[in-house]
Amino acid sequence: MILVVNFGGQYAHLIARRVRELGVFSEIVPFDISPAEVLAKKPEGIIFSGGPNSVYDKNAPLSDKRILRLGIPILGICYGLQLIAKQTHGIVKSKLMKEFGKKTLRVKKQGSLLKSLKRSEQVWMSHGDSVEKLGKGFSILGSTNGCRIAAFENNAWKWYGVQFHPEVVHTPGGQKILGNFVLGLCRAKKDYSVKNLATQLIAGIHKTVGKDAVIMGTSGGVDSTVAAYLIHKAIGQRLFCVFIDHGLIRKDEAEEVKNIYKHFGFRHFYIVDASRLFLSRLMGVKDPEQKRRIIGHTFIEVFERKASELGRKHRNIRFLGQGTIYPDRIESAEPSGQADKIKSHHNLTLPKKMKLKVIEPLKDLYKDGVRELGKQLRIPEKVLWRHPFPGPALAIRILGQITPRRLQILREADYIFTEELKKSGYYEKTWQAFAALLPVKSVGVMGDARTYEYMISLRAVTSRDAMTADWARFPPELLERISNRIVNEVRGVNRVVYDITQKPPGTIEYE
Ligand code: XMP
Repeated sequence: MILVVNFGGQYAHLIARRVRELGVFSEIVPFDISPAEVLAKKPEGIIFSGGPNSVYDKNAPLSDKRILRLGIPILGICYGLQLIAKQTHGIVKSKLMKEFGKKTLRVKKQGSLLKSLKRSEQVWMSHGDSVEKLGKGFSILGSTNGCRIAAFENNAWKWYGVQFHPEVVHTPGGQKILGNFVLGLCRAKKDYSVKNLATQLIAGIHKTVGKDAVIMGTSGGVDSTVAAYLIHKAIGQRLFCVFIDHGLIRKDEAEEVKNIYKHFGFRHFYIVDASRLFLSRLMGVKDPEQKRRIIGHTFIEVFERKASELGRKHRNIRFLGQGTIYPDRIESAEPSGQADKIKSHHNLTLPKKMKLKVIEPLKDLYKDGVRELGKQLRIPEKVLWRHPFPGPALAIRILGQITPRRLQILREADYIFTEELKKSGYYEKTWQAFAALLPVKSVGVMGDARTYEYMISLRAVTSRDAMTADWARFPPELLERISNRIVNEVRGVNRVVYDITQKPPGTIEYE
């Protein structure tokens, strides 16, 4: 197992994924982990991630120096390399010229870390500070034009470092470097694969739940469906699934989800229609956070009511199943001591009154891992490739107040968009695509008449994990067809725009 120490940004996640792609389990831990906690996890190696700070910043995240002397091989990446240098009597300096983007690494000495790399390799740099001088026992393995110490090793202490980012695709030899470290220098065991994961997870659920039963809120999304499927494999008809229709779902969605679960052969699948309650509580509410709060609380209330009803009949319901995945659990934006803090908006918060134990079979997986696992379990592709859909659903895609008319308009527009993407084969190539309703009206002309109607914004992004995203480059003919259909078929819309904002600085959703 490899520990990835998180010094901030998205880097730690990407590194953890790459290690898993090498077949080795990885875990992200906060930068202020103590040496004793490190030892307790028995890692075969440690990676210090990159991060947005300078090691000299007042609030720079600094790990405990003693971690360097535990005898466990350590690889520092970017900020991580600078931290190792600083903590081992080296000198790090701020440079006037920042080095950013694709650079050429000249490999001076392969050593163990750069084994089998070419003499000249493309690497991705992103740094302001550089290591100027190293302590005793280090050797420099490579340089770029702007950075003399771009890679180093100290075999006596098993300290290694690269100034560039081996985890990104713009460093083509990056995975080789990570492999040299993880498999070569750390000799980590290759015991992580999706193939045996399904069997392990099912056995684990079986053991944990015993003869009890599990209740679960299912949304029809990939995570909750794969989680429910696994739990069902383990305990069969002792799984109770509840789908809450809050009146904010997409066109035909309840029917679709019902059919999926019917196809799986689940005996206990319940749809609770609570749309009137939700919509009445949301009436007149404009603020996005307030919408989220109302939806979250009402969801728990409705879920609890159904769970108590089922609990009275089936007294062995003692577990709450959840489709939580790894990024939901890890705070990704800031290096912090609370690595396990759950982003409240991403999950159904645990109903407090119910004394249920939580079971989260997918808690260590990334989205693509969930999809791979689902494939292994033979869950239909159609289900696995459904786009992520946020808990607050259409409520955060109607900017401002939610009204039945606006919901109706958005549902129709979104349906057309999705239908056209599926027909043209672009749906699967896109991470997420949806329509949003902008509650501003603009003038148009239809037939010979003036119109004054709402605007629909189409949002489609490519991404690997929703942390960063780029707008999808669809052919203009496809966009034209979608726009024409929406304006012609959806009453109340006379203008369609296409959103070309990247994340960051935009977010994927509108509210
Ligand atoms: P943003 O908008 O933050 O979205 O770029 C990133 C991913 O998270 C989803 N998302 C949510 N999911 N409840 C959820 O369950 C929410 O409140 C929520 N907000 C955003 C979003 O769809 C995207 O996949």
